[in-house]
Amino acid sequence: ETPVIDVDPSRRVAKIDKNIYGGFLEHMGRCIYGGIYQPGHASADTHGYRTDVLKSLQTLDIPVLRYPGGNFVATYHWQDGIGPRESRPTRPELAWEGVETNEFGTDEFLHWLTVLGNCEGGVGKWTVEPYFALNFGTGTLDEALAWVEYCNGKGNTYYANLRRKNGREEPWGVKYWALGNEMYGPWQVGQLNAEDYSKKAIVFAKALRLLDPSLVLVLCGETGYSSWDFEVLRSCIPYVDMHSIHIYTASSDHMKNVSAPLIAERAIEATAAFIDVARIENNIAPTKPRTTICFDEWNVWSPTRAPGNLGAEEKYTLSDALAVGVWLNVFVRQAKYMGMANIAQSVNVISPLMTTEKGIVKQTTFCILELFSRYMRGWTVHTHVRGGVYTGDTEPAWLKGVQEEGINTLDVSATVGKDGWVSVAVVNMDENKDVEVDLKIGGAVEGGVETHTVTGENVNVVNTEEEEVRIAEGTWDGKG
Ligand code: AHR
Repeated sequence: ETPVIDVDPSRRVAKIDKNIYGGFLEHMGRCIYGGIYQPGHASADTHGYRTDVLKSLQTLDIPVLRYPGGNFVATYHWQDGIGPRESRPTRPELAWEGVETNEFGTDEFLHWLTVLGNCEGGVGKWTVEPYFALNFGTGTLDEALAWVEYCNGKGNTYYANLRRKNGREEPWGVKYWALGNEMYGPWQVGQLNAEDYSKKAIVFAKALRLLDPSLVLVLCGETGYSSWDFEVLRSCIPYVDMHSIHIYTASSDHMKNVSAPLIAERAIEATAAFIDVARIENNIAPTKPRTTICFDEWNVWSPTRAPGNLGAEEKYTLSDALAVGVWLNVFVRQAKYMGMANIAQSVNVISPLMTTEKGIVKQTTFCILELFSRYMRGWTVHTHVRGGVYTGDTEPAWLKGVQEEGINTLDVSATVGKDGWVSVAVVNMDENKDVEVDLKIGGAVEGGVETHTVTGENVNVVNTEEEEVRIAEGTWDGKG
């Protein structure tokens, strides 16, 4: 029987926040040094920024970039990375067992963003917004306040003047700030329990808002499906705007690999419910804007395959690219709750984009991101799929029980854009079967059809420097 996909563009489910196509740059492995910044490289500009990397990232139309970590931030003192380079200290780096030269810091990152986004930067002027994570490990409240003042201060005050002295007159206007990163984790310098974290997060949030009421503060969640998430939301919800979640998926078994991102869908639904309960308990009026979900680390990553202290340079297969398609389908389908999502990471470290001495390599996952970012915007619309079902093993094992009869082997999301274009993203999880689907688009459909196919000889193919997974592009005139 031919599978059927029903898409009803007149039934808009929710507006998609453009920030779901966000990225992440951490001082880890070759992400910053040898990634976006490599003075002396043939493609480097006068600032040392690799222009081949800038050009590739520009095609992804990234709306927001998280920086500088990750686990890195738990021992990072931002003041080490400002001012004259020759006076910046080199320090041991505890998260990834490296050394941090501090050659690249706050002003370099923000300036690099202005180059990436071809904009001036500053409030209302960013085309790629910065999103900073605060040091909740060894960092103090004073340091956090000073960082915000340095970046955003408008008046005649010490850190605002220090920024001016370092060459930036206008405030940088950094809106998004995370209250720590993975503070629940035993791997984290300064690990806390949920109660202690909540107390600290509230103290920081209150003070930061006194300094700059326009900040968007992000609470440190876990997987979205844990008691940590529930507890910190219950305590902190009145003080924050977003709740962060991190999940990585990976398996050497194709069906497990490609279906695993569906756990994110469950996590988002669970977090949305926690947010509701937390709002009720804190007497937050239903008319007040909802705390949204900031999925600020997601991707396919197996830390045993690509360990963090060795730079986490994953080599992505077609199977991984399809998994990334499922990941992005989840964010589109769950647009109602999503305020931001950041692929971890954007260059070299668990990334779709790799640098070599010769140039850049776009991994299999790159074209998926590019297609979603280009087409899957606007509103998410109602879809229904009747097709193949997978009932075999999943990772985690409970996943296959989440959908009624097993997992749909066609994973679908659909959008309608401002211009009325309907876009449908379909991932065929089945590695053994090409499928022809009956795609029914409700309402009057006019105009042509454009199709883009990502495929390869088998699900294990990877891109090499010489050869990239082919995107077979086709157009269809709409007849038939
Ligand atoms: O993205 C790599 C690492 O994964 C991040 O530093 C950390 O937050 C997570 O555990």
